[in-house]
Amino acid sequence: MCGIFGYVGHQNALPLLVEGLRRLEYRGYDSTGVGLKHNDTIELLRAVGKVGSLQTVLPSSHNATVGIAHTRWATHGGVTEANTHPHASFDGEVHLVHNGIIENFRQLKAQLSASGITCSSETDSEVLAHHIALALKEGRTPQEAVANVLSRARGTWGLCILFTSHDLLICARHGSPLILGKGDGEMFISSDPHALAHHTNRVIYLEDGDMATVTEEGVDLSRLTGQHVEANVTVLDQNWGESELGDSPHFMHKEIYEQPDALRHCIAGRVERTLGRGRLGGMRLTNDVMVQTPYVGLLGCGTAYHAAEIGKMLIESMARLPAVANISSEFRSNDPVINPKALHLAVSQSGETADTIAAIREIQLKGGQAFGVVNVVGSTIARLCGQGVYIHSGPEQSVASTKAFTNMVAALTIFATQIGRTGNLSRAEGRAIMEGLQQTPHLMEAYFDDVGPIDEAVELVANAKSVLFLGRGLSAPVAKEGALKLMEIAYIPCLAYPAGEMKHGPIALLEEGSPVVIVAPNDHVKDKTLSAIHECRARGARIILIHEKGDPIEQEGDVSIGVPAVHPQLTPLLTVLPLQLLAYRTAIKLGCDVDRPRNLAKSVTVE
Ligand code: F6R
Repeated sequence: MCGIFGYVGHQNALPLLVEGLRRLEYRGYDSTGVGLKHNDTIELLRAVGKVGSLQTVLPSSHNATVGIAHTRWATHGGVTEANTHPHASFDGEVHLVHNGIIENFRQLKAQLSASGITCSSETDSEVLAHHIALALKEGRTPQEAVANVLSRARGTWGLCILFTSHDLLICARHGSPLILGKGDGEMFISSDPHALAHHTNRVIYLEDGDMATVTEEGVDLSRLTGQHVEANVTVLDQNWGESELGDSPHFMHKEIYEQPDALRHCIAGRVERTLGRGRLGGMRLTNDVMVQTPYVGLLGCGTAYHAAEIGKMLIESMARLPAVANISSEFRSNDPVINPKALHLAVSQSGETADTIAAIREIQLKGGQAFGVVNVVGSTIARLCGQGVYIHSGPEQSVASTKAFTNMVAALTIFATQIGRTGNLSRAEGRAIMEGLQQTPHLMEAYFDDVGPIDEAVELVANAKSVLFLGRGLSAPVAKEGALKLMEIAYIPCLAYPAGEMKHGPIALLEEGSPVVIVAPNDHVKDKTLSAIHECRARGARIILIHEKGDPIEQEGDVSIGVPAVHPQLTPLLTVLPLQLLAYRTAIKLGCDVDRPRNLAKSVTVE
């Protein structure tokens, strides 16, 4: 949540900062601002709204070669210009941008009031600028002042600080990511590695408790306690994928249609056909470990949780091993019992979701092992787990997650065959699943060649009071995913239930014309789903049916959308596609901002 970009070097800073903000906008887009330093003056330019609004207040050129920038997702204080970052200290000496939450900001603010300093914003971040300025006035160096103030702060931060009288930037990280990019005689700072990739592939990931002094010559890294640390330079993967919009109308559209190729990347090199299984090398799992595993725990939020629910079912069915899917945000508060021999898979596109990070820490604190199932390379979850699997979706910039979902499901399918083959899964069945997975990118393409009557489905849902989504077995989490997509980008209230649960309550909502989306692929629960269709129809509901192409069940829908036939364990990879398109096209019809839905941000880095 919120994006930070910073620059120090020989180039004109302003266009670089604006470009950085544009790439980070998906992390928060309530308001944006830049701080530009030239000689001994710092100019602040801020605006409510997206980068486009900021550009209307920016000068056409500026001589600054040092600067910081921020795009905000509001936590403390409303969306106003005063609350927009950068924030300046009372004396104009310190300017900073901050991601995270300062939990004891009220106490820090009270101390400022006692010294006669009034904050001009409602944010928790501004207090840090004033306290650092006070610490400088007491004769401390910038590094000492920052360390001193952060030792008194409680909470989380990714911080980038600019000083009027010092030619350097100070960055600090505690619970909110910050990455430094090394150029030739210049340094870049970003809260997200993909905003650096166009400038350099040599990056330094700050760890929690790190503080970096950044100048155009390079970086001096230390712990907040003062101890010097050697900066570890990592080379970014050049094959990360295209993050430009290109000819696509929206990132969501682009990312939906990228799914066949993204899936190819995810499964490449991971299929062992003759052994009837997949293999995830980064998990570093021996047969002995897998055989002794008492259960598999999966964790995630939102879309990642839906993928985890599918993973749970696949693991149980292929390995006959208990598996449980947990919502990360609930995990820690429920004081879970952790078995050190169990495998815990933390599923996350961004690898920065605070709730999932907190759940991993809980597992590790209790002696358990956690593995990341993550998209963003080098992200906090990937590094915290130190083992796991990258899903290789490439950059996902639409707030609504699409291609990460299918690749999470694919990676968990591969894992299920791997652990399944140490137990219950026969070689022949494992091979059939892996062959099916290898064909799935083609099947996705075949679906995209003829997506079916999505627009008719849009007509049924666009003006509905609410939409009910139903599915059974593997299709129950798919129904939830379809509901989440439609709700988050088209703002239509959606409910999702396992189809059998419908008659235990949600059926009360149905009236003449109510739209119900039913996911009914050709699997062993299809006939039971059929009963739910009849029950809905008997109450006057209009059925949008997602089914296998050519299956006679298609007659049961008012609008029927067929997807190609696939192995029954792989149906979520196809049935989710029309649901993503339904959400996308409905949002377009309603005039919603598809890639930047209200109140949301791409990566939720606060608990
Ligand atoms: C839904 C969506 C969110 C995320 C959730 C987890 O489209 O994007 O529900 O899935 O915030 O994010 P990650 O996967 O980054 O941990």
